[in-house]
Amino acid sequence: MNTTLTPLMPKGWAMAATRRKNLQRVGWLFVVSVVSLLSSCATTDINAIAPPVADGSSQLARGRIIYVTKCAKCHAPEPVHNYTRAEWQQIMPEMVEETHLNPSDAAAVTAYVESLAAR
Ligand code: HEC
Repeated sequence: MNTTLTPLMPKGWAMAATRRKNLQRVGWLFVVSVVSLLSSCATTDINAIAPPVADGSSQLARGRIIYVTKCAKCHAPEPVHNYTRAEWQQIMPEMVEETHLNPSDAAAVTAYVESLAAR
């Protein structure tokens, strides 16, 4: 019974072994990319992107909450200091409209980004 199977088996085994090796390689690639993704998340600090405001009850603090919650629905929140005041004034009308903010929330988030804009 061995005589009929032996010519076939090594081929099948070799293929299975190659497949296993490839799977292992893909597995490692997956592990490595998940680990690097996680570590890059750990270094992405929301407080660096949207710095907190000293007075938590202020309009600016309310603007920050809107910024980190509502302004991050379509894209990651941009670091506030990446834009000058003039640039924010150009960007905000469109983004406020995209976010469907009421006038009071629009004013709060606009005041927040302008307060921390690049100089
Ligand atoms: C409905 C989706 C959506 C929401 C909500 C949204 N954005 Fe955007 N945002 C976009 C898209 C799409 C772009 C890129 C194209 C463009 O500029 O119109 C963009 C681009 C930007 C840019 C880059 C502009 C540039 O010229 O470099 C900034 C900054 C920005 N958004 C801030 C905000 C802020 C602040 C809010 C909240 C008030 C917000 N976004 C809410 C969709 C959105």
